[in-house]
Amino acid sequence: MQTNAPTHIAMILDGNGRWAKAHNKPRTQGHVEGAKTLKKMIKALEKTSCNVVSLYVFSTENWRRPKAEVDFLMSLPKRFKKDIEELSDASTGIRVVFSGRKDRLSEANQSLIDSYETSSRANTGLIVNVCLDYGFKDEMVHVTQQIAKNVKDGLDPAAIDEAMIESHLYTHPLPPVDLLIRTSGEKRLSNFLLWQSAYAELYFTDVYWPDFDETELMKALDFYASRERRFGKVDA
Ligand code: IPE
Ligand code: IPE
Ligand code: MG
Repeated sequence: MQTNAPTHIAMILDGNGRWAKAHNKPRTQGHVEGAKTLKKMIKALEKTSCNVVSLYVFSTENWRRPKAEVDFLMSLPKRFKKDIEELSDASTGIRVVFSGRKDRLSEANQSLIDSYETSSRANTGLIVNVCLDYGFKDEMVHVTQQIAKNVKDGLDPAAIDEAMIESHLYTHPLPPVDLLIRTSGEKRLSNFLLWQSAYAELYFTDVYWPDFDETELMKALDFYASRERRFGKVDA
């Protein structure tokens, strides 16, 4: 095990569509394979000292995709119900939390998500933060609206500080991201956890998400272990 290991890993799971294209399969098959990889990755992470994994599964921008693809992606929470229940079955199993807007999801998905969160609430294992209809800019709008309401009710604007902003993030009270991994060769953050990743180490790999496995995860953890995190200070 690495001496210098991340507590919170964020993953931009990208490349499902290109994986499908490379295998002459429909994009939807890429998403199914991607979801299978997710399950394997959770099992691999359970063996590490990582406490939290944030998974970017659907962005606020992904609604711009063709309706058939959006509908298919939105069917995945139900399609993988058994797998999610299996992973969170024991009290030492995963705790599922969601970050993002819930209001634009179907009622069926909203109650499914609530049931995953509620039934795994007391679990002590890996926290799996599913970022669904998540976008950082949307999160900032939400934070600003909450604080503006409090100002209207008498909060002194001078009392607004970083801790107060953090307390209104969708991801509260999760710790900051230590390591951010993006697959498929793209080197951008695509509106993901920008506050939370302010000091994250960034790891990019060309591997498409469905091909990402334990060996690839270990490469990312080795990369992280080799970094010196200074947080503005000079090295020790
Ligand atoms: C990531 O794979 C999954 C989601 C965004 C839901 P993509 O679907 O973005 O795959 P590419 O980028 O087209 O290869
Ligand atoms: C980012 O992937 C969102 C998710 C992985 C869910 P995209 O494939 O949608 O990102 P862009 O639009 O190419 O940056
Ligand atoms: Mg993509």
